[in-house]
Amino acid sequence: MPNTILIGSQWGDEGKGKIIDVLTAQADMIVRYQGGSNAGHTVIAEGKKRVLRLVPSGILHEGKVCVIGNGVVMNPLDLIEEIEMLRSTGVECKGRLFISTRTQMVMLYHRALDRADEAARPEGKKIGTTGRGIGPAYAAKVSRTGLRCGDMLIPEFPELVREQVLETNVKLAQLNAEALDADEMVQTYIEAAEKLRPYIVDTIPLIHKADREGKSLLLEGAQGTMLDIDFGTYPFVTSSNPTSGGACIGSGLSPRRIDRVVGVIKAYTTRVGEGPFPTEDFGDVGKTLAERGHEFGAVTGRPRRCGWFDAVVARYAQMVNGVDFWTLTKLDVMDTLPEIKICVAYELDGKRIEDMPASAAELARCKPIYETMPGWLEETSNVTAMDQLPLKAKAYVERLVELSGGRLGILSVGPARESTIRVGI
Ligand code: GDP
Ligand code: IMO
Ligand code: MG
Repeated sequence: MPNTILIGSQWGDEGKGKIIDVLTAQADMIVRYQGGSNAGHTVIAEGKKRVLRLVPSGILHEGKVCVIGNGVVMNPLDLIEEIEMLRSTGVECKGRLFISTRTQMVMLYHRALDRADEAARPEGKKIGTTGRGIGPAYAAKVSRTGLRCGDMLIPEFPELVREQVLETNVKLAQLNAEALDADEMVQTYIEAAEKLRPYIVDTIPLIHKADREGKSLLLEGAQGTMLDIDFGTYPFVTSSNPTSGGACIGSGLSPRRIDRVVGVIKAYTTRVGEGPFPTEDFGDVGKTLAERGHEFGAVTGRPRRCGWFDAVVARYAQMVNGVDFWTLTKLDVMDTLPEIKICVAYELDGKRIEDMPASAAELARCKPIYETMPGWLEETSNVTAMDQLPLKAKAYVERLVELSGGRLGILSVGPARESTIRVGI
């Protein structure tokens, strides 16, 4: 398989975990390149459901090498829990999971700051973060005060942690939040470092050696294009670059070694947290999509907001990521809808626009312009080839791809590995 970046094209939860798992069959090394345990990637394999937050979703395939890249913010306590969850369900990470020495760490004090900051924001200014400390950890990285995984390997590590806890306590006091116990925190992280030590290596030579040897690399994005710190609905975004450009920064692989970009996109749209969402449906359609699609956060359990497919989002994602192939997921969720709408453009202040506006305030004023298609009212979850699809479902898929640009690579009609139709890839 050519070196592939897989990205989310909407506001996250497009089904990236499932598709990474499917593509891993042809890959040798899977690299997570950004985000942290704000992600929840569901993989259902051999009848077992697992939700991965930090470990690449390729880990369920025996023998494949998995890397947590330098662009990730890694919470050691969450990772230990995840490694243990995997072990207890028959998957051993040791020897094939590697964490970059350059990966920034998300510490308990970042989580405390994230939560205190959200609580202190007035209504309308809340982001609706996952509360996992992601923003503060990336802020520490760019402020050059962050601790990296490599720091866990040096004797000064306990002192570095203590320094950061004491500094954070000053900020927490300003937010009227409780101070953290530095001794307790230092002890917690000494123990965590002991457990994670065997996994921490310089992943740059590892990745490049694999590439030189002709191995297939699969770069796994978390979140989605519309949550990108630069290209998303700022400030209602996450603090990293989930878009394909972030894959090189977050792994150390050169852009010249990337062969293709796969965009995962749902047949409708969902969003968790605050921020504009033009096609959000507050009525029966939204309810049906949420129920049939089990649209609840994989990690937080928060209900996801649901609405129609937005082709303005898809075209934008196609542009900023350079999507070669689409993976369209969750078509089966729409099986019972008698009529289906697609947003083809927006109306902004009385004018039709085709491109994504740059500001969240403008996007909040956009009204979707819809095109309507008939529903197929037949089950698609048992379909195994494109020519078995009901004609109206096929027409819907073709229209989405036509409006979005690029080509269809995979169609997904259910959460399990088997419910996958390979078309172009
Ligand atoms: P990710 O964050 O992009 O990996 O997506 P999540 O795992 O958070 O959410 C996707 C949800 O949809 C999970 O519960 C998956 O098991 C499920 N899923 C993935 N693909 C399909 C599909 O084609 N049909 C249905 N019905 N569910 C799917
Ligand atoms: P996966 O990888 C959906 C959203 C949060 C919030 C915003 C900022 O499973 O697709 P953060 O905690 O990152 O500072 O929150 O981003 N968010 C996600 N939404 N899927 C995700 O990940 C998300 N990760 C963060 O809900 O709106
Ligand atoms: Mg998710």
